Amino acid sequence: MGYIIYVDALSEVAPIGVLFSTVKPLHRVFKKLVFAGKAEIIAAPIRAVPCVHPLRQGYGRFTMRYPVSTLYSSPFCEVPMSTSAVISAPRYRAVIIGSGSIGSAHAAGYAGAARIDLVACADTVHEQAQQLADRFGVKTVYTDYRRMLDTERPDIVSICTWHPLHAAMTIAAAARQPRVILCEKPMATSIGEAEDMETACRRNGVRLAIGFQRRFLPAWVKTRDILRSGAIGTPVRLSHTRETGLLNATSHGFDCMRFILDDPKVEWVFAQVERKTDRYERNIRCEDRVAGFLKFEDGVQANFQTDLVVGDWTWAFVQGTEGMIHFDDGWVKYFNAETAGWKEIPVDPVDPWVLQAEELVDWIEERTEHRGRSENGMWTMHMMMGAYESARCRELVRLPMHTRVNPLDLMVESGDLPVRYPGRYDVRSFLLKGESMRLDTSERVVP
Ligand SMILES: NC(=O)c1ccc[n+]([C@@H]2O[C@H](COP(=O)([O-])OP(=O)(O)OC[C@H]3O[C@@H](n4cnc5c(N)ncnc54)[C@H](O)[C@@H]3O)[C@@H](O)[C@H]2O)c1
Repeated sequence: MGYIIYVDALSEVAPIGVLFSTVKPLHRVFKKLVFAGKAEIIAAPIRAVPCVHPLRQGYGRFTMRYPVSTLYSSPFCEVPMSTSAVISAPRYRAVIIGSGSIGSAHAAGYAGAARIDLVACADTVHEQAQQLADRFGVKTVYTDYRRMLDTERPDIVSICTWHPLHAAMTIAAAARQPRVILCEKPMATSIGEAEDMETACRRNGVRLAIGFQRRFLPAWVKTRDILRSGAIGTPVRLSHTRETGLLNATSHGFDCMRFILDDPKVEWVFAQVERKTDRYERNIRCEDRVAGFLKFEDGVQANFQTDLVVGDWTWAFVQGTEGMIHFDDGWVKYFNAETAGWKEIPVDPVDPWVLQAEELVDWIEERTEHRGRSENGMWTMHMMMGAYESARCRELVRLPMHTRVNPLDLMVESGDLPVRYPGRYDVRSFLLKGESMRLDTSERVVP
């Protein structure tokens, strides 16, 4: 029986001997199988992998093929599970809608997950779907995602298209009743769309997770653990700084704040928005700048600023009553009265896409809830839409909020936020293929 696995590897500087997998117990096995000639590398490292994650910089991707029997019956095998356990455990069929850059990251996640088979992918641009299929050994490609859902009857559906399509595609997927849907962030472009997604999933008994894969990064988890331990006293203030739009990058920042604080409710938001140019981000209106304040139910306050400064990126710098924590995706440091300056905490490199995929299986089999479950994505929606609503109403907005449409659209369409420099442009237009200057989002659900 053939089996294909994708293994992260140092592409240019290291020989095969440094192959490692994020499934830690397997990495020695891969290495020895390759040296013993029992595994075959069938694709060269792809050096131009878009760097979705800083930990991946300098890393390429090898495709290895080997007989599954070789792995599990190998004298080298140090995998702490038996062949029969692996073979008899149920496997889950996954499909991907939208085979662009983040579609590939989901594909890599499924390839690294022990019990998920990526059986098909869809994209309106056929070559895009074919490229993903070739790279990850996917059997079937579609240009019509509904046909794919009807034909393949998947257990897991990844939605990796631009945000304006998330709601329509989640609702269409939910109607086909897969076990779980993993929709990319941001969950939607308005509270109304996000609520419709949750309703459709609840009605059909489908679990819905949002792709905030950074929740799986050890740096984020360690930051949360340091806060839990009380090493910096009680957290008092968080600060977030980012670029490229509230719904784009700051959605991760808002998700981060809640994650490291153990997912509290958010009491209110107070914000200001500027939009002098007709700026879009992945085909939705985007502000030029936004900044404001948030208060969480446990008393912690946060400030955030998006597109006010260039190059100063911080997910959520934390000030506590007795110290501070600074962290990013690949590092954590903190100080308090005992550390005599900043103390760095080592973090292991992991592939969050694989962990995100594997937790879907744990969720389906009811061992745990998925940390990206839609309840969390929904809170991030309230924080973002609340910021727009605060600017629209010029007041503090208590959350969860009730305006179902996107308040930024309301401000622009009512003339309350006039564009001084007319001419629409999209900060993500470089992702479009062929002659198109705009994504067709005619499927968009308007609540
Ligand atoms: N979690 C993260 O860290 C992260 C990082 C980047 C992007 N994203 C999210 O992923 C989503 C996709 O972004 P991207 O950068 O991968 O965009 P992309 O343009 O690279 O990929 C989107 C793909 O969807 C395809 N598509 C468009 N309409 C379709 C349809 N009707 N049916 C099937 N396919 C269709 C496009 O042809 C394109 O190939 C966005 O919502 C973005 O916010 C998340």
